[in-house]
Amino acid sequence: MAARKIIIDTDPGQDDALALLLAFGSPDQLDVVGVTCVAGNVPLSYTTRNALLICELAGRTDTPVFAGCSRPMVRDLVTAEEVHGKTGLDGPEWGEPTMSLQPQHAVDWLVETLLAADDGEITICPVGPLTNIAMALVREPAIAPKIRELVIMGGAYFAGGNITPAAEFNAYVDPHASDVVYRSGVPIVTMSLDVTHEALMAKEWIASIGALGTEVGDKTEAMLSFYERYDLDRYGDLGGPLHDPATVAYLLKPELYSGKQAFVAVETQSELTMGMTVVDWWGAKRQEPNCTWITEVDAEGFFALIYEALVALKP
Ligand code: RIB
Ligand code: CA
Repeated sequence: MAARKIIIDTDPGQDDALALLLAFGSPDQLDVVGVTCVAGNVPLSYTTRNALLICELAGRTDTPVFAGCSRPMVRDLVTAEEVHGKTGLDGPEWGEPTMSLQPQHAVDWLVETLLAADDGEITICPVGPLTNIAMALVREPAIAPKIRELVIMGGAYFAGGNITPAAEFNAYVDPHASDVVYRSGVPIVTMSLDVTHEALMAKEWIASIGALGTEVGDKTEAMLSFYERYDLDRYGDLGGPLHDPATVAYLLKPELYSGKQAFVAVETQSELTMGMTVVDWWGAKRQEPNCTWITEVDAEGFFALIYEALVALKP
């Protein structure tokens, strides 16, 4: 069976890096047709640099990488250097990328690529603020039927927020973009904090990656060791959640996950709950569901999948 065509829209970020590496390490199942970058964890100048570095680390210099929106649709950009470090990919020693960005703006490339595709041909994994995706949908609504699924990392309901008590970072940074996407009618699978907090990195797992003895393993261990410190401080010694790879893992092994269809709306008015993804889990308002809200994961299977992909990446 032909590999599934996917686009990863990202704001690397160490966990974004693992989503990219998981996809690149699964070439028989996933064909990464492009990587589009957005401002989020760090400014766009860093997220683009970081995406290029990860493509090079994975040996995938053939992958086109595009710069997208440098700020949210309405609100000012909020970044997360306290989590990801100044560069967004702190931990390892990196050089500068030798790959270059594509000249086209990511939103223009998304529209052009999707319009040229068959209906339902391309899956998109947005793992940062949804600015690029929303801008493309507003720019050209005709792309909607071309998208097989949006498998989104973002939002939170039962777990509570991570940047405010009510909101998860990606949805908080660009709540208006999240609102556009959840009202778009495109099929959505959401990997919120409700499920990503159910798979916490064990120190032994991170150490097993470092023991691979490859550049991918060395750099991944350094990224994750840096990245987990923030969450260990906040959530305790059980380990830090690894958010973004959940989207790619769902595409590779959906049986690892469970949830249900639900109607989700995004807060764009109140500062107190800005960016909150309000999930009508019990169908109180009897509205047609607009996403599959995932809440459970086989954590052992998730981490095994990532480990296998990292082994596959470099001989
Ligand atoms: O809240 C977690 C999300 O915000 C992840 O995508 C992380 O990379 C940051 O973008
Ligand atoms: Ca991210």
